[in-house]
Amino acid sequence: MNSILLDDSTELLSSKSLDELSSRGWCVQHTHFDHAPTHDLLNASLDAYRANLFEPAGVGAGSQNTIKHQIRSDYSRWWDPTNPTPLQENFLLQMTRIQRQLNRAMFLGIHDLELHSTIYPSGGHYEAHLDQFQGRNNRLISMVYYLNPQWQPEWGGQLRMHLEHTLIDIEPIAGNLVLFLSDSIVHEVLPTLHQRHAITGWFRNRPWPLSYFT
Ligand code: OGA
Ligand code: MN
Repeated sequence: MNSILLDDSTELLSSKSLDELSSRGWCVQHTHFDHAPTHDLLNASLDAYRANLFEPAGVGAGSQNTIKHQIRSDYSRWWDPTNPTPLQENFLLQMTRIQRQLNRAMFLGIHDLELHSTIYPSGGHYEAHLDQFQGRNNRLISMVYYLNPQWQPEWGGQLRMHLEHTLIDIEPIAGNLVLFLSDSIVHEVLPTLHQRHAITGWFRNRPWPLSYFT
């Protein structure tokens, strides 16, 4: 287990994780941030949920966004990058360092990160999908950071990645940090029998006009 200080000199992602992300399109690393502990992030999420600050998550980008419970049944709360809480700021600092590592190791032009907190109520799920919206191409790397301090496999709720020849299931347990390519890794959230908490984000570049590719 890595315990990370706000010391800027340590690399957060191991070279193994970076190699795996580059070569096979995904990686998982167990990581705890000293100044943004998972139990504080979880409590902040729970407080906001109880204060009705979460909204049912939708499907599709921009004005196409609609609520479809048969596809996904989580609730989310977008972080406001212009007005983070001190805890969010500490978390964002760590993500900025990861962003720098990704740009350096994978020659990506990531320039920002959009983040939201998510809660799947018991019974929730999210069908298999890609994170890059149709007609948009600015989400490069998806990241999920899990917050439940313990997780029983029989509760379900795993992140399932659909790879070419195999399925990979990841337990949504506090400290698991998953990164994957937004435009190519099909994934789903298996039905969960327990309330499930995570922070989900997308490292983005400036969108290219789609006409550039045609
Ligand atoms: C998403 C998503 C995965 C997870 O929000 O797009 O796929 O494990 N989340 O919560
Ligand atoms: Mn997704």
